[in-house]
Amino acid sequence: MLARRCALSAGKLIEEMLVHPLEVMYKTSSSDLVTSVDRAVEQMVIDEIFKVYPDHGILGEEGLVACEPSKFETVWMIDPIDGTTNFVHQRQNYCVSIAAYHRGVCEVGVVYDPTRQELFYAERGGGIFLNDAPLRVKRNKEMKEALISTSLFWNRRAMKNGLSEKAQRLAHRARGVRIYGVAALELAYVAAGRLDAYISPGLNAWDLGAGRLLVEESGCKISTIEGKELPFAERTSVLAANPNIYDFLLEFLTEYTV
Ligand code: IPD
Ligand code: CA
Ligand code: CA
Ligand code: CA
Repeated sequence: MLARRCALSAGKLIEEMLVHPLEVMYKTSSSDLVTSVDRAVEQMVIDEIFKVYPDHGILGEEGLVACEPSKFETVWMIDPIDGTTNFVHQRQNYCVSIAAYHRGVCEVGVVYDPTRQELFYAERGGGIFLNDAPLRVKRNKEMKEALISTSLFWNRRAMKNGLSEKAQRLAHRARGVRIYGVAALELAYVAAGRLDAYISPGLNAWDLGAGRLLVEESGCKISTIEGKELPFAERTSVLAANPNIYDFLLEFLTEYTV
């Protein structure tokens, strides 16, 4: 399968490039990084896709190909390295995310963590797989047993509209909170039952391109923070959660939001 092949080749390329010193550049600020590896991986994935499907659209974070998603029947969403800050500082806790959307619906999604050699994969209607083994997770946890990941605490908009305070109160209702800084992998972890929820005030299409399908296919729920269906190819807030606690989280987050 092309998406899986591309993700595994991306992992190899990253490994090869890491033998040399990393070239790190700022995009909009010192907390918005891109490296030569991000660009090389995106280019390689694009080349592989175009070899097979030269007429498909490509929406990649590093923007190496111009694309108006609504003009293509099939669009590939690529985050060559999700968690670039982790990649630069830690050389771990990052992943490659690749998804194929047909008429606005995600049909295939893969999230690959090269350092742990974990490949999370889903095709619509086919459930989710971790390294070829089907993943079936028991989801009978209550809120007090839940491990939650969120970046609501310091997000500027969330601080203004009261969501940061809610996140603090939420932390006390849960067993614990984790902040990994790698959205695609955090969505894969919700799907795999390693996290019970992931909440973000704003993600781009390539951040959640594949993770969204993993979450859906795992039987978990995913929407905007307001409970609306996620848009296609637009920036959006995200609430992904185990179905046992999704309704509670949605009510908690929407109650009294100004
Ligand atoms: C970022 C990471 C991070 C999330 C940011 C994303 P990048 O992606 O997924 O966890 O909080 O919103 O932009 O830039 O490392 O690919
Ligand atoms: Ca980035
Ligand atoms: Ca990303
Ligand atoms: Ca990225």
